Amino acid sequence: MEETLSTFLRATEIPTQGARTLPGEWFTAPAIYEREMERFFHARWLCAGRSADVASDGDYIVRAVGTESIIVTRDETDTLHAFHNVCRHRGTRLCDQSGGHFAAGIQCPYHGWTYALDGRLVGAPHMTGTDGFDRTDWPLLSVAVAEWEGWVFLNLASDPEPFATAFAPLIGRFSRFRLSTLEAAHRIEYDVRANWKLIHQNYSECYHCSPVHPALVRLTPANSGENDLYDGPFLGGFMVITQPGGSMSLSGRACGHPVGDLPPADAQRVYYYSIFPNLLLSLHPDYVMVHTLWPQSPNRTLITCEWLFNPASLADASCDPQDAVMFWDMTNRQDWDICERSQLGVSSRAYVPGPYSARESLTAAFDREVRAVERVSASETRSTVPIIPAV
Ligand code: FES
Ligand SMILES: [Fe+2]
Repeated sequence: MEETLSTFLRATEIPTQGARTLPGEWFTAPAIYEREMERFFHARWLCAGRSADVASDGDYIVRAVGTESIIVTRDETDTLHAFHNVCRHRGTRLCDQSGGHFAAGIQCPYHGWTYALDGRLVGAPHMTGTDGFDRTDWPLLSVAVAEWEGWVFLNLASDPEPFATAFAPLIGRFSRFRLSTLEAAHRIEYDVRANWKLIHQNYSECYHCSPVHPALVRLTPANSGENDLYDGPFLGGFMVITQPGGSMSLSGRACGHPVGDLPPADAQRVYYYSIFPNLLLSLHPDYVMVHTLWPQSPNRTLITCEWLFNPASLADASCDPQDAVMFWDMTNRQDWDICERSQLGVSSRAYVPGPYSARESLTAAFDREVRAVERVSASETRSTVPIIPAV
């Protein structure tokens, strides 16, 4: 087994560069939120869910990304597609469900225009003879889509960076976990009254673990972490599971078969990666927990959490996925509660940015990635002089 070639550093060995926390308006101002949606959620690759959710032709899921709604489906040739959920006739939203199966193409409920699973308009009642109308001119508008390790990714940009380029630092990195073979045992949706960045910031440090997660620190000491991705859009590393044969569960024991072909060191580690902008990946020896973040407003984020297991675990009555689910549901709620308290505090007029500790170096790195949007916006503002028509 080939060990991942990585340089691991403790959080305290990664400079915070004297960083302070973000200004309050970054968590509250609609204009900043809109800009982040535009720059990050409408321009970067987003994790939309598992490929298994669209396993067969006609299966579909719908994801809301700010004001946009995107349909992901698979056609008869096994090709994955993503489309804007907007009819080409008068713009009506085509699907109002979060997922399902198209038995006979994608039909608009308004006047019955019908699209094939590859987006072609194949039915437009009473349009024959309409001046200048040609069905081939009116396919659904497509959105870039990619699959990686059993997940579907979307990119709403008109000319997106290729997925393989954007995700180059991660591709192949987790092969030993055989992520594409894992199956979901459980899913919980959380509605959190906090800005999406607070969720990432909280995930990226364990400085808070002793006060917030007393059960977690009995399984993994708060200062046991080392990191191998500590700058840029992907951040994370591992923490040590102290109990031999242990895992992050209520019982403290592994509750499933190993997820992949793991070297001995991985049996005592849980890896945590924040994958900008909407995916949190937590790799345990016996299961993988996945959060996807869906901002709703400056102070509200919907979070989907899934627990993925080796299929052998799901077929084995001696395995108990609920041991992990209940542990992390408790821990997630501790995190959401403290993030909601943070949201209230940073929304106060009394809040001023505070100093990050040495243990929060990945959180400071996350902020650097977020702050890059400010630089992009500033340079574009300088170069985009509004043209006022002569009157
Ligand atoms: S708006 Fe969809 S068919 Fe008319
Ligand atoms: Fe936490």
